[in-house]
Amino acid sequence: MLHDEQVALIQRAMALIDSRGSERGEPTLSPVERYLDPVRYKREVDVFFRRYPLALCASASLPNEGDSLAIDVAGLPLLVVRAADGRINAFVNACRHRGARLRPPGAMSQRVLVCPYHSWTYGLDGALRARPHGEDFPHAPTSDCALARVPAAEALGFVWVVPRIVEKQDEATLDIDAWLGRFGADLRSWGYDCWVPFHQREFPNAANWKIPFEANLETYHFQYAHRNSIAHMFYHNLLLADHDRQHQRIFLPKRSIESLRDAPMDQWQAGPHSNIIYFFFPATFILHEGDHANAFTVLPEAPDRSRVLATTLIPEMPQTEKSVNYWRKNIESFWGALDEDFALGVSAQSTLASGANKALYFGATEWCSARFHRDVEEAITPGA
Ligand code: FES
Ligand SMILES: [Fe+2]
Repeated sequence: MLHDEQVALIQRAMALIDSRGSERGEPTLSPVERYLDPVRYKREVDVFFRRYPLALCASASLPNEGDSLAIDVAGLPLLVVRAADGRINAFVNACRHRGARLRPPGAMSQRVLVCPYHSWTYGLDGALRARPHGEDFPHAPTSDCALARVPAAEALGFVWVVPRIVEKQDEATLDIDAWLGRFGADLRSWGYDCWVPFHQREFPNAANWKIPFEANLETYHFQYAHRNSIAHMFYHNLLLADHDRQHQRIFLPKRSIESLRDAPMDQWQAGPHSNIIYFFFPATFILHEGDHANAFTVLPEAPDRSRVLATTLIPEMPQTEKSVNYWRKNIESFWGALDEDFALGVSAQSTLASGANKALYFGATEWCSARFHRDVEEAITPGA
């Protein structure tokens, strides 16, 4: 983030701290069908998990030619591979012969993609390179048997994929920088393109995929849900938000920001005195914590179930035990708080079918969660 913008944010924050205020929006309702209805769920999968870029893994977790990750995204089996030219390619993880998966879920490294069933063999560009008894397949020319291609790109230390099949090679290009926009430029200026994953975690979440974002786009809950973890570092119910299309940037000042009042403005840095949430619509959350980032993408599995792919990015791999311990402590602190959020989301999901609530209430300081819902509604409404 440019220094001028950091100063402007800090000044905005100080004005709100002085007035004991926060930025606020319209109070809204969120009907419980949003979290339960299977028809709506299917529509959300078709829109958000087939048409939008999602950060699926850290770029640096696939450093070498032939490194691959097999992962299912809302029912679509994907295979992400590092090609010989250094770029990332993504395919549907389905053999063109009789459909077997080329790779089991998870990471692997091999210079060619060999199907375990009858050994059809593909290059890292997805082209069919060889198959036993090829003369028995006159009806399946090699040119028709390349793996189904999926758009992919790298940015901000992550591999981003739009989980949909494209017919032509040139359609597989994804202009990820344009999509990430000015908030992507913020993160790039801090060096995210070269950051590496210190910690990765994947876990099931017994709640609708939208619920974790609701929790992480407001601070109303901090003093209560996080009273024993991170609450003491932050102001009560205070956030500042900026938007770029459906993306959100939320500035959470830490109490230590007070120390800047006595410092010359040209030395003001937001990093040590704030957390900054970057939410890239529809399902990728990056928490910038000054010298590192905690990120997660939530993938839907059913109306009331999802899966979380989480990564901690740091500038470079630690070389000493001291720095390993430093990052471990950071991660423990982050997950101490985030586990509280995820548990409360699961708790909320578990009551939604009870009939007690027809709709949930978002208050005026929960307006960024409400805005996320508004953007979801607009995107799934035909003709909107
Ligand atoms: S299904 Fe892959 S080689 Fe037969
Ligand atoms: Fe939280």
